[in-house]
Amino acid sequence: MKDRLVRFGVSLEGELLRRFDAHIGGEGYGNRSKAIADLIRKEFVADSFSKGGPVAGAVTIVYDHHRREVVNRLLGIQHDHGGIIISAQHVHLDHDNCLEIIAVKGPGARVKALADVLKSVKGVKHSTLSVTCTGR
Ligand code: NI
Repeated sequence: MKDRLVRFGVSLEGELLRRFDAHIGGEGYGNRSKAIADLIRKEFVADSFSKGGPVAGAVTIVYDHHRREVVNRLLGIQHDHGGIIISAQHVHLDHDNCLEIIAVKGPGARVKALADVLKSVKGVKHSTLSVTCTGR
């Protein structure tokens, strides 16, 4: 069931509000309400992640599949973290490079640990961790 919307007043310095409006306008927001709600959720996600609470997200890695053992190491790591990996998508980028997008859900500390071990594998050229909320 959708929660009831509540109106509230906020007092801000004029210059700060002007900059906020310009910023959210540039990002495509049609009004302040959605922009403020998104900022609040972003803060909650960051807080949950920093405290090891539940998060969902994606680890993205690019690696050279010709590098010795890199494919086996990455597979082994993923099997060891089966509890927090929801799915993985593999894309053959070009002759040498593979892109893997690994969807994860679980405690922030475990998600971070997985992202850290994946990026430390020799042959992994770049990796990112994108963390979002579990939707709750
Ligand atoms: Ni590939």
